Amino acid sequence: MIRFGIVGGGLMGHGIAVALARAGFGVAVHDADPATLADLGERVGQALQRCGTAVEERATVAERITAAATLTELARSSDIVVEAVPERLEVKHQVLAALEERVGDVTPIWSNTSVLPLTEVAKGMRHPRRLVGVHWWNPPYVIPLVEVAPGAETDHRFVEEACEVLNGLGKTTVRLQRDVPGFVGNRLQFALVREALHLLEQGVCDAVTIDTVMRSSLALRWPAVGPMENADFIGLELTRSILRSLSPHLSARTGDFPVLDELLRAGHGGRASGAGLLPWPEGRSEEVARRLEAGIRHNLAASQHGPAGVRRAAKR
Ligand SMILES: NC(=O)c1ccc[n+]([C@@H]2O[C@H](COP(=O)([O-])OP(=O)(O)OC[C@H]3O[C@@H](n4cnc5c(N)ncnc54)[C@H](O)[C@@H]3O)[C@@H](O)[C@H]2O)c1
Repeated sequence: MIRFGIVGGGLMGHGIAVALARAGFGVAVHDADPATLADLGERVGQALQRCGTAVEERATVAERITAAATLTELARSSDIVVEAVPERLEVKHQVLAALEERVGDVTPIWSNTSVLPLTEVAKGMRHPRRLVGVHWWNPPYVIPLVEVAPGAETDHRFVEEACEVLNGLGKTTVRLQRDVPGFVGNRLQFALVREALHLLEQGVCDAVTIDTVMRSSLALRWPAVGPMENADFIGLELTRSILRSLSPHLSARTGDFPVLDELLRAGHGGRASGAGLLPWPEGRSEEVARRLEAGIRHNLAASQHGPAGVRRAAKR
């Protein structure tokens, strides 16, 4: 059985470890921060509880996840290494260089980068052909989708292997033909956020209205029919005609985002600072976390992506 090593045991690293361990894999986790490594077991326990692992199975699953005090220790016991360190190019480069000194030349390395181009992440590697973009969504032990993409120098055999392993875990993998910042999911998500900020900036509506529109219309439609199928469904003539009318009015902004710039200047950085696009009085954070988790569970149970029957969507 494949043994995994995860570098970076933060939010994503510990979550990916749980997803892999639930599927029966052994996982070693290393983190540069000793405190993060020290509370790995506790966070794994909480995640197993949250994702509904049966009480009698929790100890067995948790035992598959071990803390590796050093990168060398992790490298020694890993057939595939997952890089889940912060989204900063210099940190990724430093970790990949250190890893390449410790693992074999053909050990696959999966980078969990969200928006950095994989080709940039691979720069300076001795064997960039083994680096694959494997983008999990949070929480990785709940969300079915994993996006897989090659960098310019990635050998496609490593991409195929990644898809096979992930499909074996019951994940819904999509395989991109080439490396683009943000894969598919974050590009779609942030195109929408940009347009929402544009509407705020123009004084069309407030932030609550944007969330109401989304949650009471598009969010109901999209789990059943995606935007491409919907475009066909309404007809491509109509789709083109709507796009021709609307496109000139949509945001093409880059660089500055005045609504965010102003809020951030005022110290309103969102949930953690008590205010952002919306007010965050005491108790709201916990309520939103509960609602988010319950909502994802409800949607999963209702959709064909139920945890027991995750659909394989990769076109290979
Ligand atoms: N947060 C999300 O929702 C999400 C979703 C998908 C992908 N990602 C991506 O996953 C990666 C990790 O994000 P995260 O949210 O888990 O961040 P995080 O800050 O929670 O975790 C990163 C961990 O890496 C550790 N670290 C830093 N430098 C290190 C080093 N040199 N060696 C070993 N460990 C080191 C840190 O101590 C920290 O525990 C990023 O590339 C991010 O873009 C994040």
